[in-house]
Amino acid sequence: CSAMATKPVVLHLQSLPLEPRAAEDLHSKFENLFIWEQADPAAFLAEKGASIRGVVTGVRPWVNQELLDKLPNVEIVSSNTVGLDKVDVSLCKERGVSVTNTPDVLTDCTADTALALLLACMRQIPAAHQYVCDGRWPKEGDYPVTNKLKPLVLVTAEIMHLCQGLADLSSCLYGHSICAMLAVVSGKRVGVVGLGRIGAAIGKRLEGFGCPISYYSRSKKPQYPEYNYYNSVVELARNSDILVVACALEKATTKIINREVLDALGPTGFVVNIARGPVIDEAELVKALVEKRVAGAGLDVFVNEPEVPKELLNMANVVVQPHVGSATYETRNAMANLVVENLVAHFSGKPLLTPV
Ligand code: DGY
Repeated sequence: CSAMATKPVVLHLQSLPLEPRAAEDLHSKFENLFIWEQADPAAFLAEKGASIRGVVTGVRPWVNQELLDKLPNVEIVSSNTVGLDKVDVSLCKERGVSVTNTPDVLTDCTADTALALLLACMRQIPAAHQYVCDGRWPKEGDYPVTNKLKPLVLVTAEIMHLCQGLADLSSCLYGHSICAMLAVVSGKRVGVVGLGRIGAAIGKRLEGFGCPISYYSRSKKPQYPEYNYYNSVVELARNSDILVVACALEKATTKIINREVLDALGPTGFVVNIARGPVIDEAELVKALVEKRVAGAGLDVFVNEPEVPKELLNMANVVVQPHVGSATYETRNAMANLVVENLVAHFSGKPLLTPV
């Protein structure tokens, strides 16, 4: 019993998918409190707040002044994310609270997600999948006369836009007209917004598709001499066919993809976002898609998750996901392990593995 009493108390704001070893560590070394088990979280924090020394958090809960004020003895916030937009890191620092995150272990997984979204929206894979699931298949003679007379040469921006975003896909999804809706990825000019670890991993993958890579980055300018650097996102967009957003969400990057950027990308351009919703002016993106001022989008993240603008839900050229960029078994386990290892290191007086 006395051993139990000395275990540091850890408040969990988000659950962790733990492998047995990490679960054993967590349960044997800490007293764990789970916010989602509390009927009245405010009363619970008022009662237990002073005993809490560690916090486990994730992509949705806020670790802000309101919470920190209720945890006067907290020493460490261990976030199960690489992005720290939901943690007030400077306030933590001010109060002497350590912060850790989960870099590196999710880089490949998230870069894979960007590629998947890119291919999915440019080739309209979900719509094609649904078409086959509906028992359909393109038939000879089905395609419109205009396409018969002028075959693939006609796969131009003009034709693409004729077909894109039609509510009734059945009129388009057959014969050559299916081609008219789709865009080749290989060789397209890619602009990466934010060339950190994940942005660079996306660039590497797209090099394999023969895509010339350009980028905008506030901090990484000198590191990638093989890529074109633009010091404005508008210029980057103007010189790209595909804009992939991979920057951290900060004050300076909020709505960095705005109407001007979308118009610079233009009606044949695609947007992929695996970063955070608020880096894009979401209302402007929706408008641009509805008005066909951009060609399509692959989106893993949204401004008010779990809300997704309803206009995006019935467009064949828009693919949406529920913020699952890092959601593979291996990656989520590796992230959760880091979360626990950081707590263990902190409370045994060892250096943190991934301090912020
Ligand atoms: C991160 O780590 O920031 C991801 O978005 C969460 O999976």
